[in-house]
Amino acid sequence: MVIDRGRVISPGRVNLLGEHVDYNDGVVLPAAIDRYINIHFHRTTDKSVTLYARDLGEECSFDPRQLANKTALDGSPLPGWAMYPAGIIWNLLNYDLPVEGFSADLHSDIPIGAGLSSSAAVEVGFAVVCEALGGWELDRMTLARICQEAEHEYVGVNCGLMDQFASACGVANHIVMLDTRSLLFRPVPLPSDTVIVIADSTLRRTLVNSAYNERRMDCEQAVAHFRSRDPSIRALRDLAPEWFYTAEGELPPGVYRHALHVVEEIARVDEAIRLLENNDAEGFGGLMFETHRSLRDLYEVSLPELDILVESAAGLEGCLGARLTGAGFGGCTVNLVYKEHIDNFVARLGEIYTVKTGLQAQIFATMPSKGAHIL
Ligand code: GLA
Repeated sequence: MVIDRGRVISPGRVNLLGEHVDYNDGVVLPAAIDRYINIHFHRTTDKSVTLYARDLGEECSFDPRQLANKTALDGSPLPGWAMYPAGIIWNLLNYDLPVEGFSADLHSDIPIGAGLSSSAAVEVGFAVVCEALGGWELDRMTLARICQEAEHEYVGVNCGLMDQFASACGVANHIVMLDTRSLLFRPVPLPSDTVIVIADSTLRRTLVNSAYNERRMDCEQAVAHFRSRDPSIRALRDLAPEWFYTAEGELPPGVYRHALHVVEEIARVDEAIRLLENNDAEGFGGLMFETHRSLRDLYEVSLPELDILVESAAGLEGCLGARLTGAGFGGCTVNLVYKEHIDNFVARLGEIYTVKTGLQAQIFATMPSKGAHIL
């Protein structure tokens, strides 16, 4: 169906379990959240694209066919925020999908840079805009993969598929389990009587992208080590923890620690799925705490403020589990909380965090939502 104007909403995501495993062929458990990038768009008669970032008060125009050098119509470099829509348009054209000229106004109620994938939501949202204007249609998994590829090749972040997948394929009221090797996915209900609470530490780190790419290279180094013994090893997914432990002393200590997190996290997700299927909220929450310790001590992507949020949540009534979510180095924690304790949990966690850090966390309950779509 071809549409000339409309509004697309594209959700951020929170990951419940399976952190830093999506670029190691592991299984992840994200949910799209009810916070969105909102894009109002309309077709224009010329072939250029004009974007207005309402939250920043900035505008940018470019020619979709002149995006390889990452410049705007006036020849200036594209601003950081415009790299995401530009990257998508550049990649859709690589696939010979027609992109029409349009004008769009975007606004986000997903906190930016907080580990809730506002950038993936922008990518997926603009892919849906181009789809509606161009009158073509892709299945949501293919759309997510084209967005991920744009992030690798245009933006320069070697991310996994989880964020774009969650934003494209989210299911209301469900976690969506994705096997990043087979690309099979299915919705899994949240344990009964529980709610997801997100706590934004409000801390933002700048070097996240380079640290992310470095972790990814460490994982590849560990895989190469095992592949030299057994050529069938393709990813850390292929290593049982017991086998991996034999590499201690053979790999540089940092590489060993980082890869150890991944190998154990992949095993934890297997157990988590069994617990979810048995509606075992307490068991699942216990694994969330384990994941946080592993991200802090082994993968080394936490910050003291995130640790404070997790430790403080653990002491509050009704909290089943808490951990940092997303890439780390700042951003948010995700908490699983019994419904009846939500109000007290949100209020107390905020107070304790302020006393301990002097900062004001942004804490809110969220419901898993449907993936990006036209309203
Ligand atoms: C970022 C990436 C994802 C994933 C997470 C960590 O959000 O974009 O692909 O690797 O970090 O789990």
